[in-house]
Amino acid sequence: MTAASLLRFEHVSKSYGETQIVKDLSIEIKDGEFVAILGPSGCGKTTSLRMIAGLEPCNGGQIIYQGEVIDSPERGVFVPPDKRGMGMVFQSYAIWPHMTVYENVAYPLKLRRMPKDKIKLEVENILAIVGLKEMADRQATQLSGGQQQRVALARSLVFHPKILLLDEPFSNLDAKLREQMRIEVKLLQKRLGITVIFVTHDQVEALSLADRIIMMSKGNVEQEGTPQEIYERPRTPFVRDFMGKTIMLEAKIADVHQNGQISVVKDGKNPVTLTTFNHYFPLPRLGERCLIAVRSEQIRVVPLELAEAESGHEQELRFCGSIETLLFIGDQYEALITLDDGEQLHLFIPKTHHWQEGQAIILRFNREVSVWPE
Ligand SMILES: Nc1ncnc2c1ncn2[C@@H]1O[C@H](COP(=O)(O)OP(=O)(O)OP(=O)(O)O)[C@@H](O)[C@H]1O
Ligand SMILES: [Mg+2]
Repeated sequence: MTAASLLRFEHVSKSYGETQIVKDLSIEIKDGEFVAILGPSGCGKTTSLRMIAGLEPCNGGQIIYQGEVIDSPERGVFVPPDKRGMGMVFQSYAIWPHMTVYENVAYPLKLRRMPKDKIKLEVENILAIVGLKEMADRQATQLSGGQQQRVALARSLVFHPKILLLDEPFSNLDAKLREQMRIEVKLLQKRLGITVIFVTHDQVEALSLADRIIMMSKGNVEQEGTPQEIYERPRTPFVRDFMGKTIMLEAKIADVHQNGQISVVKDGKNPVTLTTFNHYFPLPRLGERCLIAVRSEQIRVVPLELAEAESGHEQELRFCGSIETLLFIGDQYEALITLDDGEQLHLFIPKTHHWQEGQAIILRFNREVSVWPE
């Protein structure tokens, strides 16, 4: 947490004509971090990355890199891309088809007027790292999509940039290759200790790669945090729904406690007390209807007779119900469950018990959940 700040956006805005794309955006990237900028199509991810690279100037606020202002309309400062020394790989392959792999990767060093023998060493080194050593003399057009992306990666890394900008670099690759490239990029980042900003609209990509996720919507930050925080503790309905499937259970507010805990009633029986981590404003009022959001994998289904014999689950919430329909789908069951208050939900349940339709069950999940207005 003590790593130095490498890049900072301070109240950055960007418009195209009348349309404001990025609004008062303030973010910070630390040295050595792997940050994913995640958000739906059109939210301003590419625009933000292009401003970092210097391919677009901002209209307001300022961008600071390595302690220096690199873009500030107010001060009339704009450092052009080639003076920023950042590595970048964008969605389209963007390698030069008329050059060999070697020539493509050597290009940034030639621009920097590096001596030939030094270039040779650097290019061979980075080609070995991305696994293309044997293909140095191939024409770029004779490569597969994944290999082309690796060339682009090598070319963006060969001059030892402090920061690597990746804009959906794998979106043209098939699922399997994407997975492989994901792992390679992660290993590469660890090995080189480089700072990476990775733009994607794929939550799995962001979750699996990033030390920190900056979740964007409509040109601003919706939430930022570690993948765990973003996934398990979404603070807005937008983040919650973007990050994966959630089961929403209806309940009523029975009490709002001083310590921030909330008691809810689900089936007209005893109130249960929840610890919520999301901001629910305005504060919920007694008697108001609400929704408890739980990730489906956090829910456990236990046969009633077993649940009653168990103890020591004070940390968990329990709701009673029964199995309405049960579908055997091979590795598990798909069940429609009816809770005592009549609410129904679909769940996948493991083959750990001999489940039957009509069976009484208990739903169990951790007390720490998020509660939302209906
Ligand atoms: N040069 C431009 N001129 C006008 N509008 C633009 C320009 N570039 C982008 N936009 C608009 O800005 C908005 C944000 O675009 P941007 O490319 O940053 O989105 P994104 O988050 O990268 O989306 P995606 O996931 O689809 O790549 C979009 O509505 C887009 O149409
Ligand atoms: Mg984009």
